Amino acid sequence: MTDLSYIRGNSFDSSKYTSAPIPVSAKVAALKDAVFQHDAVRILNAFGEKLRQQPLSKAQLWTLLASEAMFVLEVPPSILALASRVTDEWLEIDPFAATGRAARILFAAVDEYGLNEIEHKLLPSHHELYADMAAHFGMTRKDLVDPRYVVPTGFEFRDVIRNYYRKQPIIESLGFHVANETTAPLDFGVFLETFRAFRDDYGLKSENDMILDFLLVHDDVETSHREQGVEMLQLYVGDDDALLAQAHQGVLAYMECYGRFFAELDAAVFGSARKTQIRMSA
Ligand SMILES: [Fe+2]
Ligand SMILES: [Fe+2]
Repeated sequence: MTDLSYIRGNSFDSSKYTSAPIPVSAKVAALKDAVFQHDAVRILNAFGEKLRQQPLSKAQLWTLLASEAMFVLEVPPSILALASRVTDEWLEIDPFAATGRAARILFAAVDEYGLNEIEHKLLPSHHELYADMAAHFGMTRKDLVDPRYVVPTGFEFRDVIRNYYRKQPIIESLGFHVANETTAPLDFGVFLETFRAFRDDYGLKSENDMILDFLLVHDDVETSHREQGVEMLQLYVGDDDALLAQAHQGVLAYMECYGRFFAELDAAVFGSARKTQIRMSA
């Protein structure tokens, strides 16, 4: 990177290659509907409505940010692990197709690691963007992982994610991954609207203040992560209903924990002894 005479991307014409989307069957596409129609989404939206009613106190914000941090920390390495598993599996089946296949999963990790402008520069990783956002609200990286601020289901959600991406049958892991990528714009969208609703109280200069970059970047990339994941599922499932049922199990496993996480977070944030408001910009 210090050799400025070297410019990446100049020696090969990538425009010669196009990649058409893989046709996705109605049955596989319906896995996304299974996410949107799950009760966990209603729980998230009910929580979101409360979050937008008044500015959160410091205690409420810290609970929100630390609990969500468990999820935020666990997802990128887990996606990387799943991409690695898919690669290794396909090296045995169709070796020259293995990395190309796994790319549909790795695609999401590339954004997570801040590599999405790789031709030009490294960007902050999503972990770094999250820590920067939390720092604006007075939280250190140590605070973000302090168990005093994390609801118990936050740790459970982290462990379930770790287990599903790394240990469960790949077809179930892929269903789990698609549920994750399908819900991500929903929950990060709720957080974005939460901060925008009272942006002066939260010390934000504009709707798209760079303090919110962690949330803004997700608003930008998550749908593409989801669609790549769905294509990956289509490649695995084909027209095999038994595999589709396994993928569905993975979707439900994610949604079950997701719903419990937001129900518990709602209770922790809006339960008793959380009423004191402070102006975060003060
Ligand atoms: Fe991310
Ligand atoms: Fe994603």
